[in-house]
Amino acid sequence: MTTLNFPQNFWWGAATSGPQTEGRFNKPHANIFDYEFEMTPDKYWHGIGPDTASNFYNDYKNDIALMKAAGLNSVRTSIQWTRLIDDLETGTLNPDAVRFYNDVIDEFIKQGIRPIMNLHHFDVPVDLIHTYGGWESKDVVDLFVQFAEKCFELFSDRVTDWFTHNEPMVVVEGGYLYQFHYPDLVDGKKAVQVAYNLQLASAKVIAAFRKHNKNPEGKIGVILNLTPNYPASESEADQGAAHFADLWQNRLFMDASVKGEFPAELVDILRKDNVLWESTPEELAIIKENTIDYLGVNFYHPNRARAPKYSSDSLAVDWLPNKYFEEYEKRGVRMNVDKGWEIYPRALYDIAKNIQENYGNIPWFVSENGMGVSREDRYYDSESNQIKDDYRIQFIKEHLYYVHKAIAEGSNCFGYHLWTPIDCFSWRNSYRNRYGLISVDIRRQIKTLKKSAYFFKDLADSSSLEL
Ligand code: BG6
Repeated sequence: MTTLNFPQNFWWGAATSGPQTEGRFNKPHANIFDYEFEMTPDKYWHGIGPDTASNFYNDYKNDIALMKAAGLNSVRTSIQWTRLIDDLETGTLNPDAVRFYNDVIDEFIKQGIRPIMNLHHFDVPVDLIHTYGGWESKDVVDLFVQFAEKCFELFSDRVTDWFTHNEPMVVVEGGYLYQFHYPDLVDGKKAVQVAYNLQLASAKVIAAFRKHNKNPEGKIGVILNLTPNYPASESEADQGAAHFADLWQNRLFMDASVKGEFPAELVDILRKDNVLWESTPEELAIIKENTIDYLGVNFYHPNRARAPKYSSDSLAVDWLPNKYFEEYEKRGVRMNVDKGWEIYPRALYDIAKNIQENYGNIPWFVSENGMGVSREDRYYDSESNQIKDDYRIQFIKEHLYYVHKAIAEGSNCFGYHLWTPIDCFSWRNSYRNRYGLISVDIRRQIKTLKKSAYFFKDLADSSSLEL
């Protein structure tokens, strides 16, 4: 048996978000999922929408106690814009939400868990889409900054760790390219502008943080879904396709967040294709000056890219990034069949090396990693009253092996967060894929530690992994 020791003070934790756990109770505004579910419930798995939450709004004390029992020393969730702000234009506060988030933060601290707050987890208020076009509009960027300032004023005395967005590329892809999030458009030009506006919003929020943060220990970053793009072959066409996929999917937000500049090569391509975003020199200066303190990396599966068979030119559609690359599933690789995602833990090592070699070894942590499994009650063992999720334990171990290897070679990785502490609602997939250390029986609201929760507690308490 080998023991892998991790650094002291390593963040052992898990991640979730407000809109996926709290439920609708007392929220003054609908986010895009609340709205879409009301309009088209059949788009959601089994017709179950975001109202059917694990009830964090009412049950947060019990939930945090369960997180403590699973050994978590840090937890990321998010503050909901649609809950905290009463009047989206003027930014007046909803007093019930101020009480709620204060109580949640105090409870985390009381239980010895570091609360990490994210400000945007795909949950833009739907009214701002209908009035302004959502993230297409720079007015919305400024309204988001107003919301963020309120958060810093209210909570930064106790919350030291902040993130501006979770996976901004998913907002771009889901809402403006591949139709898996409202407003469900396929519009390359808008997608490019939304990407730019999200980056501008992140930089402006960082600037606001530097002004309003009350805690000398306070830090702010962004959470990106970084997936290496492995080319299908050595051919120039496949290498070029993977290179563009990397520029678009990873480096757009990564370079701008860490180095303060978008990759010049990508900017040139977008300009040549007549889809470059509208920017001003003042905005680009804000992006340049307001880079992140640290980075969160969400990693589930690698991307494999090859040259596209058909370009969007030949298909006579407007500009799409897929004119330059196509994602494909490699034959013979390991898969999580339930979710349809490849399992390739070594990619975490490649991500770490990339950060170390190309991004000044900026401090980072694994902000999401996890295994979604459907019909998990198949693995319920009545004798121990546990879901025996050995596959999740194995998944965590294999990924941590590569995190440890990267740290041993000098990577500045300071934590590992599993998605997610307690099985939670997930967008159109609702409760299809279960990811938690703690299971939830939605109908009866019973929450139970899975086998992986006991494993995770040992891991976190000892900060070491037995292999
Ligand atoms: C992550 C998101 O990428 O994937 C989460 O940050 C989401 O919000 C998770 O819930 C799981 O997604 P899915 O598609 O399996 O439900």
